Amino acid sequence: VGIRRIFSGIQPSGAAHLGNYLGALRQWAKLQSSSDSVLYSIVDLHSLTSLQAPLLLRENILAMVTCLLACGVDPKKSIVFQQSQVSGHAELAWLLGCRTPMGWLNRMTQWKAKAMSDNTNVVGLGLFAYPVLQAADILIYKASHVPVGEDQLQHLELARDIARSFNSAYNTQVFTEPQPLLGEVQRVMSLRNPLQKMSKSDNQDMTRINLTDSSDDIRNKIRKAVTDCTGSVTFDPHERPGVSNLVSIFAAVSDSTPDKICRMFEGKQTVHLKDELAELLISELAPIREEINRLQTDRGYVMDILRDGSERAREIAEPNLAEIKVLMGI
Ligand code: ADP
Ligand code: NA
Repeated sequence: VGIRRIFSGIQPSGAAHLGNYLGALRQWAKLQSSSDSVLYSIVDLHSLTSLQAPLLLRENILAMVTCLLACGVDPKKSIVFQQSQVSGHAELAWLLGCRTPMGWLNRMTQWKAKAMSDNTNVVGLGLFAYPVLQAADILIYKASHVPVGEDQLQHLELARDIARSFNSAYNTQVFTEPQPLLGEVQRVMSLRNPLQKMSKSDNQDMTRINLTDSSDDIRNKIRKAVTDCTGSVTFDPHERPGVSNLVSIFAAVSDSTPDKICRMFEGKQTVHLKDELAELLISELAPIREEINRLQTDRGYVMDILRDGSERAREIAEPNLAEIKVLMGI
């Protein structure tokens, strides 16, 4: 039995949102106690697939580290690092890209969706090759498990395909095929358009709860969340995506199930659900927000965590990359 090594990444695009928290970060903290080795990366190279203002990007990288720490990621148990500071990621992405058929990438639904919806950015080679860099992120550490949201399952499957095809082409077992670990909530949907996932990449703040939002922000956003004209609280993601999203969030935060939440609100109205959900989120997120605020006054500490983590990540990545290059004859 091999070691259980966790790898996951998050883009440095400002404060994390509730989708990141319930789909990823909450689980990231929990996984620390049941794993041999844990790496969490701020994937700044991925974020460059859309144009970033340099000074803001630098701030956003530290802001995301701050979010991770505030959500309970402990630098004594995990390696928290900046992707671009470990040059092996980009290098391995090239090596793997040489073994990745275009057809595989063409099947990825995410880049197509991004390419079609985003008219402010160049649809670059980087966006197309994004899943290859993701595969390199995981495979360079020979990670066995990757906590991801449902939106990333297709990319993880591709990473497995790339690992298998590389192993077979070079007649080796160098790469482990990474397994997904799904979060408690598969998909938190946008509060304004419950057919889309909650995301940082839409630029409308009302669509998401950020971990830095004040209690009033949270109340306001939940109150204005799009539902429908039926008053009762039921769970039917297909017919009633808006209410069902709120029920799912309620269930996840209270460690319950959508069915139990609907029973709890029997005879009550959507507005009651919203009021109670807002208060529940406020009590869940307030300690995190306070910790973010505290860490923001200690920039030097956060920078040290990232520098130290990047060094530790390099110590694992470099020998693995060297091994791969030898296998390939370079
Ligand atoms: P975004 O999609 O907002 O740009 P990232 O791509 O950086 O965020 O995702 C970081 C992690 O958060 C990934 O594991 C992803 O699956 C998870 N995640 C992002 N959005 C959601 C969502 N709306 N619901 C559940 N998980 C999500
Ligand atoms: Na994403």
